[in-house]
Amino acid sequence: LHKACRDSTKPYMKTDVVRFAVADEKVSWNVKWDDYKPVEFNSDKLKGKEWADPENLKGIKFNQIDGKLNRKSHMGDYKLDESGAPINPEGRTGLRGRGVLGRFGPNHAVDPLVSRFNNGKLQYIAIERSDTGQWALPGGMVDAGEEPNEAAKREFTEEALDNVSVQEMEDLWKKGVILYKGYVDDHRNTDTSWMETIVFNFHDSDGIMEKASLKAGDDAVNVKWVNVDDNIPLYASHSHFVKLLAKHHNYNQ
Ligand code: RP5
Ligand code: MG
Ligand code: MG
Repeated sequence: LHKACRDSTKPYMKTDVVRFAVADEKVSWNVKWDDYKPVEFNSDKLKGKEWADPENLKGIKFNQIDGKLNRKSHMGDYKLDESGAPINPEGRTGLRGRGVLGRFGPNHAVDPLVSRFNNGKLQYIAIERSDTGQWALPGGMVDAGEEPNEAAKREFTEEALDNVSVQEMEDLWKKGVILYKGYVDDHRNTDTSWMETIVFNFHDSDGIMEKASLKAGDDAVNVKWVNVDDNIPLYASHSHFVKLLAKHHNYNQ
């Protein structure tokens, strides 16, 4: 059950909009709920931005590659409501509209999990997000027409290396393994717009990362190696992705 995108105890992002409260048993669209009145919100800050949809849905090709933009979901075809707006496949969130997200329907991100063994301990690189102050994987949005593995490499370089890469890293990027493709329980999600991601594991078994210097960049304020064993709380669904990492490396905590 998605949770981060149902928090009605505090305003949505930096606005005065508060989500309509949705209890666990009412998340599913299969549960009839006549009194459900989600708040409508489309951030004004996104108006006119090329990476943001207009509020008018006409002409948007949902469930397809729309021009250069991928509007397909990793979870299969999503439904549209009577107004033509996509329906969040994971259920109600108490909010309608794009919110602060750019796209109606899926908003595609990638999450690079750069990992290594250090004295027998499985570790990964995390950043601290400036927006929520939470530790997270150094992920980001896939640009229109961009290959997801290229986006993973770019976002890692921007957020964890402050855009300074070393040649040796090219060998690491070639080793990408997909650990997850699908929905993210992101606090920005709404009934009509949601985050999806592809999680790539780039496992450094050759000490390549010792040649690179970790430095937070872009919207990250801190970066560090984290022990999987420390189970630190992470942004959105990222703890789940770390569990998949441990499983992939047969690492028992
Ligand atoms: C999460 O938001 C994804 O898992 C990814 O880590 C991140 C992408 O958004 P930004 O970091 O660009 O805000 O849903
Ligand atoms: Mg970024
Ligand atoms: Mg990011």
